[in-house]
Amino acid sequence: MTQTVAHSASVPEFNAGAVRVGISNGMKSSSEKSFFNFATVAPMSRAAYEAARTFMDDFYQYGPPEVLYRYDSLADNMAAEAARLINCAPAEITYLKNTTEGIIIASEALPLGCGDEVLVLGNEYPANLLPWLRKRHDGVTVKVITGSDNEAAFRRLLESISPQTRAISMSSAQRYDGFMPNLALLSERCRDQGIFLVIDAVQHIGARAIDVAKTPVDILVCGGQKYLRAGLGIGFMYVSQNVLPALRDSRVGIRSMEHFDENSYVLRNTAARFQDGTQNMAGLAALNASLREINAIGMDAIEQKNLAILQGIKAILREYKIDFIDHGMCQSNIVSLRTADPSALANFLMERGVYIKAIQDVTRVSFIHESKLEDVEVMARHLHEFLHAGTNCIRSGSLGKPETAGRRTGTKRPKLSSPLPTI
Ligand SMILES: Cc1ncc(COP(=O)(O)O)c(C=O)c1O
Repeated sequence: MTQTVAHSASVPEFNAGAVRVGISNGMKSSSEKSFFNFATVAPMSRAAYEAARTFMDDFYQYGPPEVLYRYDSLADNMAAEAARLINCAPAEITYLKNTTEGIIIASEALPLGCGDEVLVLGNEYPANLLPWLRKRHDGVTVKVITGSDNEAAFRRLLESISPQTRAISMSSAQRYDGFMPNLALLSERCRDQGIFLVIDAVQHIGARAIDVAKTPVDILVCGGQKYLRAGLGIGFMYVSQNVLPALRDSRVGIRSMEHFDENSYVLRNTAARFQDGTQNMAGLAALNASLREINAIGMDAIEQKNLAILQGIKAILREYKIDFIDHGMCQSNIVSLRTADPSALANFLMERGVYIKAIQDVTRVSFIHESKLEDVEVMARHLHEFLHAGTNCIRSGSLGKPETAGRRTGTKRPKLSSPLPTI
């Protein structure tokens, strides 16, 4: 059924003061939450929010075409920031709406055909699984590798490489437990054996450094909604200039063209050839601002802080005797707890203002460089309370008492080998 919409000829009056959050009833604000679920969707960073809002304000108040001209370089600016972050050329970067879109592009653009083999891991998020499974319709053999845990599955993946293997696609930080495979080793094996390497880096970028000049990959994709804190529906993709000539023109639109007429077209010879039509300008503004902020702080400094927080979280969990999956330093900003009833635990914590995530049989804690160990301590006390409810382990008046997230508790913090770096 079609709906008739009456168009007003006049542009509505701009009134920034009238902007209201539409759903505030009874909800906690982001700043009130003790948030440890960055691996799902993170709250936006201030920088990203301001940039997106400024674009929206300008677009609303001044409108096209002037505002579009003014913001015309946004995609290039974002590409320059992303290129700086991962050490590639800006021409090797373009934007995405999300990680899934990047994997779909990779699966369609790589020159794979009947008899070719693709290796993926079974415990991946569907973004890095479904587009590859679809390739079976084209006669591609897609091997889904599993193991007793992610480390074992990665070892099996390396052992499964055969002369037929043409592509490997995997997450450089696993969403289940933060496991980070030896990317240098994988990259070397792929280069030696002429295998295309596709990396889903959404659990990696913004948490750990990555240098594609030192550790070559063919395609890397990353949504902006997690450690980049750029909001929803925007991300970026790296396409190595070495692989670009081999890729199919699986996606064409006005923005992918160098030039075209009704008989032929010539694609751009940069990653921008995977662009199509109208851009998500507010998203690009947010992503550009997020990346710029990370680059300004320095990814190495952020990584050092994150590693120190990771150590701190593990020390606190050990002190409270909470079992977790430990991959040592091969672990991103995720610590997954092996507890009974992950969903009930996540709900129990949410009622106390602490946000973590139940994933399959674990409860996942994920953080950023601004996360506070004081809040981890509070979380650990609630965890302890939940896990030992009904037992004598809880001393009344201390571990048993509900606490507000973020409040200091007087519990002695476990000693870290060195204080958290300040950045
Ligand atoms: C490894 C991984 N890839 C992709 C995604 C998300 O994909 P998309 O950005 O398409 O929503 C997630 C998490 O939600 C993830 O953990």
